[in-house]
Amino acid sequence: MKTTSDFLKMKQQGEKIVMITAYDYPNAKFSEDAAVDMILVGDSLGMVVLGYESTMRVTVEDMIHHGKAVRRGAPNTFIVVDMPFGTYHGNVNDTLKTAVRMMQETNANALKLEGAGDVIPVIKKLTDAGIPVVAHLGLLPQSAGVLGGYKVQGKTAQQAQQLIQDAKACEEAGAAAIVLECIPHQLTEAVSEALTIPTIGIGAGVEADGQVLVFHDLLQYGKHHIPKFVKAFAHVGDEVEHGITSYVREVKAGTFPAIQHQFTMKDEELNQLYG
Ligand code: KIV
Ligand code: NA
Repeated sequence: MKTTSDFLKMKQQGEKIVMITAYDYPNAKFSEDAAVDMILVGDSLGMVVLGYESTMRVTVEDMIHHGKAVRRGAPNTFIVVDMPFGTYHGNVNDTLKTAVRMMQETNANALKLEGAGDVIPVIKKLTDAGIPVVAHLGLLPQSAGVLGGYKVQGKTAQQAQQLIQDAKACEEAGAAAIVLECIPHQLTEAVSEALTIPTIGIGAGVEADGQVLVFHDLLQYGKHHIPKFVKAFAHVGDEVEHGITSYVREVKAGTFPAIQHQFTMKDEELNQLYG
C-alpha cells in the first residue's frame, strides 16, 4: 500500500500519480489489479451510480456503504473517500466526529473536502486528528449551484491568483494532495510548481502531478452526462447495451437457453417419474 510520503516522493521524482474513482467491489478490484496509485470513492457516486442530478443528495451513509465495498475490492490501494455536501461546513467538532466515523467504517486512507476559505481550518483540524486530507479546488461540484453550473474556473489572472493562494493555504493546513478540477493547464502548472504536495488534475491539463477520472466516464459506461475533457479509453456502455438486447432477443426467440445451458434427468429416472 502506498502512503502519502510515497506520493510526495513520486512528485519529486516526476512520476505521475494515477487515480480513478470506484464505487463497488468489482470495479475497485479491476482498478487495483491495473495498479492505479489511488482510488477515490467520489460523491460523483450520486450521478454515475445512484441516478441523482448532482452530488447534493449523497449522504454519509451512501459514502460509507460504497467505501466499504471499494475497500473489500482494493485491500492494498490508497483509498480516498469524499465527505459529502453539507457535512463539513458546520461545527468543526461535529465534522471531526463524522470524519472519524467515515475513516473507521470504511477503513479509508484519507478524506477529500472541496474548497478553501472556511474549509482551511477543517483541513487543519482533521489533519491534526490524524486524518489525511485531500483538498479539491477549481470547479467544486458541491458548489455548482453557487458557481452557476459546471464551468471552467480560474480563467482570469485575479481568479488564478486566488486559486494559487488557496492551494498554498490547503498545503499549510496539512493537506496531503490537492485535486484541481477544470482549470486552465497553465494555472495547473503554476499551482503544481508552487506546492510541495502533489496536484491531481481532472480537466486541468497534463502539468498536474497526477490525473483522476471518473470510472464511468473514462470507460464510457452509463447514462449520465460525460464532460468534454474526458478521453474514452473503452466503450463499456456499448458492450452492456449489446449484451442486454441480445439476451432479451434470444429469450423471446426461445434460442436461449440452449442444450449446453440446461440440466438433464436420466431416462430411467424419467421412466420412474411417469410410471
Ligand atoms: O466525486 C468525484 O468523482 C470527484 C472527482 C471528480 C475528483 O470528486
Ligand atoms: Na467529488
